Amino acid sequence: MTRKRVAVLISGRGSNLQALLDAQGPLCPYEIVVVVSNNPGAAGLDRAREAGVEAAAVDHRVFGKDRAAFERSLDAFLRDRNVELVALAGFMRVLTPFFVNAWANRLINIHPSLLPSFPGLDTHARAIAAGAKLGGCSVHWVTEGVDAGPIIGQAAVPILPGDTPESLAARTLDAEHMLYPACLALVCGGAPLLPGDAQPMLVNAFVEDR
Ligand code: GAR
Repeated sequence: MTRKRVAVLISGRGSNLQALLDAQGPLCPYEIVVVVSNNPGAAGLDRAREAGVEAAAVDHRVFGKDRAAFERSLDAFLRDRNVELVALAGFMRVLTPFFVNAWANRLINIHPSLLPSFPGLDTHARAIAAGAKLGGCSVHWVTEGVDAGPIIGQAAVPILPGDTPESLAARTLDAEHMLYPACLALVCGGAPLLPGDAQPMLVNAFVEDR
């Protein structure tokens, strides 16, 4: 089986990266070939190294305010490794149209809300404040609008009385770890993988006709 060569871009802890790494098995249609962080101190880089995957930093601070130069460097790095698909996993830099268009239809992201509700930051606090009864996460194609691209899959979690942003974030994160490998496998052309204690009824995964 030919596996899609995937790069995962992170900024911090990398628990979604870990879920993507853990789902790699003989039937997995993707291979994570490199993990890149804009933050050289990201804990997720160690997760990559422990899994035997190349880990690298392209430090955005080196480029100052020059976002284009940062993205050109990142783009060249990924092309150099023959990356076929880029998965953002807690990558906290907004990408400009240059990078988004360079990787059009090959760039996906996970966001901790049921899009199109609550794009942007502080999703859990905003969902609780709005009185929402369902939270969740979305995997979507990245387009020029922030968190606005076509949705590949979503997983819902309840918002319970007494929830704090932290408790909702933890519940959502468990769903993210189930959803992201399934969606990445889906877009890489294989059957969705539902690792661990996955509850398939929570995953509503489909691929846009594109
Ligand atoms: C995840 O909850 C992810 O959905 C979110 O950051 C967290 C990263 O955690 N991403 C965004 O908010 C993107 N705007 P992780 O580093 O443990 O995977």
